[in-house]
Amino acid sequence: MNVLLINGPNLNLLGQREPGIYGRDTLAMIETELTREANADGVELVCFQSNFEGALIERIHQAMGESQGILINAGAYTHSSIGLRDALKGVAIPYVELHLSNTHSREPFRHHSYLADSAVGVVSGFGPKSYSLALSGLVHHLRQGG
Ligand code: DQA
Repeated sequence: MNVLLINGPNLNLLGQREPGIYGRDTLAMIETELTREANADGVELVCFQSNFEGALIERIHQAMGESQGILINAGAYTHSSIGLRDALKGVAIPYVELHLSNTHSREPFRHHSYLADSAVGVVSGFGPKSYSLALSGLVHHLRQGG
């Protein structure tokens, strides 16, 4: 099974970006740990990060015929991008939306997601552990038959 992990804008700054909210782990640390967990469970994990909406959309298109599931932390595009929503619906690959922070305990503009209603599930608020929880939830869903 192949799973694609997508991280959107500003997540390349993890480790130095607002550590009180996002913690001290870098994206590389999170990707390394998640890859270890995925591989231990017989899952191949492919990681991609971009600050560009179009690049994220093109990577989602590329996942067709390659990945059985997608984990996505779309960062701020979660709250703004109909394009990302359409891409995820367009490729029809099951996906889990995830966030390090609990977006519902933050500013009102973070309470709405363009991705959540079509996701298999949403994980929000557990720091780097959100990635791990999202992976196990997605893999469980896919092994049950998607
Ligand atoms: C985030 C939450 C978003 O609201 C924010 O724009 C981010 C990170 C999170 O992981 O908590 O960039 O997706």
